[in-house]
Amino acid sequence: MVGARLDDLTSYLPLGRTIVITDQTVGRLYGRAVAAYPVITIGCGEGVKQLDTVQAIYAELLRYEADRSFFLLGLGGGIVGDITGFVAATYLRGLRFGLVPTTLLAQVDAAIGGKNGVNFDQTKNMIGTIWQPDFVLCDEQLLATLPVREFRSGLAEVIKHALIADEDLLAYLEPRIPQILAGKPEPLTRIIHDSIMIKSRIVSQDETETGERRKLNFGHTVGHALELAYPLSHGEAISIGMGLALELSAHQGRLHPAEVARARQLLRDSGLPLTWEFDPALVMACLKRDKKRQGEMIQYILLSHLGQAVIEKISLVELAKILANWARWA
Ligand SMILES: NC(=O)c1ccc[n+]([C@@H]2O[C@H](COP(=O)([O-])OP(=O)(O)OC[C@H]3O[C@@H](n4cnc5c(N)ncnc54)[C@H](O)[C@@H]3O)[C@@H](O)[C@H]2O)c1
Repeated sequence: MVGARLDDLTSYLPLGRTIVITDQTVGRLYGRAVAAYPVITIGCGEGVKQLDTVQAIYAELLRYEADRSFFLLGLGGGIVGDITGFVAATYLRGLRFGLVPTTLLAQVDAAIGGKNGVNFDQTKNMIGTIWQPDFVLCDEQLLATLPVREFRSGLAEVIKHALIADEDLLAYLEPRIPQILAGKPEPLTRIIHDSIMIKSRIVSQDETETGERRKLNFGHTVGHALELAYPLSHGEAISIGMGLALELSAHQGRLHPAEVARARQLLRDSGLPLTWEFDPALVMACLKRDKKRQGEMIQYILLSHLGQAVIEKISLVELAKILANWARWA
């Protein structure tokens, strides 16, 4: 529900008991809106996205004597959403839940599509399920308190959606980046809405990711590896990953260099990075654990045009060579 308000939350919640899961920062900023419900507060940052946190929440739910009639509400960014969804999917074999995403990234991406989970042993989202929320309430007013770096991180996912599926959204974004970064409501609501439509359309075609949904991983193959290895936000890491995937698309003869330049310019205008001095061996070690790896091949998402993604198998040996040459392209 794009444009719905957190203050109207009660009207969306089912009858019965609700328990809220949030993080320390969001709890401090918006806890008053959920003061009527028991709240479980987790820490902030990727480090809390692990099984220990999930276990601590199970223990709290037991303390509240939560049974299958309870409803969980995740109020926070992608980490709160991923953990809430995972707890909802697994506690007593499944509770109903809803999400109020409070970061741009969570509104346009993480809260949509039902994927949840935690990191394990240096691998992102290794343990998880697909479990759909009853509702996702996107109140863009909550983004006013979001630090600009986090906002840009979400913008990277909006740009990703445009690059893989919607050239019109790309053209809409190009002249409006300054207004969007300034938080102007009109372009913001439009890009949140369009992004959600793109993601939900793709997910509806392929919920369990056997084909079309893989396109949403554009920029994420290397992006996830960078995010774990270096102090980069999710959006910064996937922006660099998209930069590489764009060059790779041109290198494979699929994308015209002028289109690569146009996409790179949009990422640059959004204040997103395109390069990083990384250790190719370290990134390759992460890629070997990637969910899209099949033996010695990895499914890589490339573009054939702006707004059109294709899936191509690339061998890990070739990818290692490409990564070693990356500095030359960047
Ligand atoms: N499930 C999916 O399909 C999916 C898709 C994309 C990303 N993700 C996951 O999402 C996570 C990243 O999500 P994120 O970028 O939202 O990070 P996050 O949840 O860590 O939030 C970023 C920071 O912003 C703070 N914050 C949240 N809302 C705020 C607000 N309104 N005002 C001020 N501060 C606020 C948080 O406390 C946190 O410190 C990653 O773990 C990633 O793997 C999941």
